[in-house]
Amino acid sequence: MDFPIFHMDDAGNRMLIAVIAIIHVMINHPMAVGMMPLITLMEYFGYKTGQKKWDTLAHKILFVCFIITTTAGALTGVGIWLSTSLINPYAIGSLIRVFFWGWFTEWIIFVIEVSLILAYYLLWPKMQHSPKAKLNHIRIGLTLSIASWGTMAIIVAILGFMMDPGDWTTTPGLVTGVLNPLYLPQLAFRTPLAMIGAGLFAWFLMIFFVKKDREFLNKAIRFVAIWSLCWLPLLMVGALWYHDRIPTMMQSNYDVAIATQQWAAKSNDLLWITWVSFIIVVATLAIGLLKPRFMPRLALLIPFVLITALLGQFERVREFIRKPYVIGNYMYANGIRVEDYPLLQSEGMLKYATYTHVREVTEDNKVIAGQDVFNIACTRCHTTQGVNGMVPKFNNLYGADKPWDATAMKAYIQGMHNARPFMPPFPGNDAELEALVAYILHIKQTGETLPGMQSGGIVISPDASPKKTVQISASGDDTSNATP
Ligand code: HEC
Repeated sequence: MDFPIFHMDDAGNRMLIAVIAIIHVMINHPMAVGMMPLITLMEYFGYKTGQKKWDTLAHKILFVCFIITTTAGALTGVGIWLSTSLINPYAIGSLIRVFFWGWFTEWIIFVIEVSLILAYYLLWPKMQHSPKAKLNHIRIGLTLSIASWGTMAIIVAILGFMMDPGDWTTTPGLVTGVLNPLYLPQLAFRTPLAMIGAGLFAWFLMIFFVKKDREFLNKAIRFVAIWSLCWLPLLMVGALWYHDRIPTMMQSNYDVAIATQQWAAKSNDLLWITWVSFIIVVATLAIGLLKPRFMPRLALLIPFVLITALLGQFERVREFIRKPYVIGNYMYANGIRVEDYPLLQSEGMLKYATYTHVREVTEDNKVIAGQDVFNIACTRCHTTQGVNGMVPKFNNLYGADKPWDATAMKAYIQGMHNARPFMPPFPGNDAELEALVAYILHIKQTGETLPGMQSGGIVISPDASPKKTVQISASGDDTSNATP
């Protein structure tokens, strides 16, 4: 409540984070974490067997991964910082306080990783002249592989922490934060997933890179199939371990997480699609291992598409089941700490908020106060009329062309965390709840939308600045109204 609220009222704030973060993972896991060791292994295999073709193929695959990871991969990485700090500065603030040294280390490793990938790619042609040079080059690949995995290994600690901080809530500290109950299981799951993803991406690239030489293509298909199948048992163990550690409370979110509320009843079908996709991936790998010559070139595309979709869906589900928290048991997704709830619910949250039009609800300011309440309590997940919009949601509940009953709406919002456990409880007092309902009725009637403060201007609560209400327009002009 101490930051001006950034809000995207059409696609929703969640969407911005989700799109950037999911693209990032889809790039980072297969093309960096998984691919660097696979390429290094391929290079080593070429060196050992003296077959130049392996070396050429590995170099070409590296070229693609080098370009994608250092452009789209790095940009989306920064994009996660940008979008999450815009949308949930409170959560990022808390995470930085806990994981400062973790991120610091990650940053150092990231810089090393980028330097190494530059060296690995650019020195490839130059380090061919002697076996010693070649071995040194392979060592660069190996160190790069460790660094790529290292950055993920640190970040996964933070992702695990957000789902379940474990002992940290009673014994705060970096070490307890890192050793959260979901850290190792999640790392044990993501590592083989990245390795298999890399294998399938390498298969996909072979469609373009090994055009004529079918005999070599068969060998390469088999090489990658063996690589991926070796990781498969670890993936299964990791998945089971991870699944087992997901807090029971979150498991009740699975249906909506997998399929959204509208399709939640069909989440089983989607689960089936997931299983079938997985089986197709494993079956193509088995064919690749046993009968690579029967593998049509285009079939190499399918597992890659499937694993990418699975990875995306997995990230989406992980992000969702954490609800209603952004940091498990510590901070709700609206950025309000659990321990601050009793105070805000009894005294009112507007009183403690900096960026609101009013400090207290009165008969005259109900709608604008309700907008402030909506901004703080609901906009991290809802829009007014757009994706997951308030008006469409209440339309579903009470009918679009019928008048909605304010008392029923109040009762719904008061108990929304029970009815829909993925939503946090309402954080304000009774007057604020009434104001929120008045605002929702107002936007239903007028079709009004809500610009975020980035475009509508920043509003500072009257008491926060005793002499005047400062209103800064989006263009940066100060359009202050002096108050008596
Ligand atoms: C942590 C995110 C989050 C917050 C914060 C949140 N909601 Fe929700 N809400 C959701 C999700 C997710 C859905 C269901 C979306 C879907 O259809 O899949 C939902 C659904 C709803 C529904 C429809 C429920 C139904 O039974 O069909 C209403 C009404 C609603 N929210 C009101 C609110 C109000 C009012 C606030 C603020 C006081 C709020 N929500 C805050 C995430 C949130």
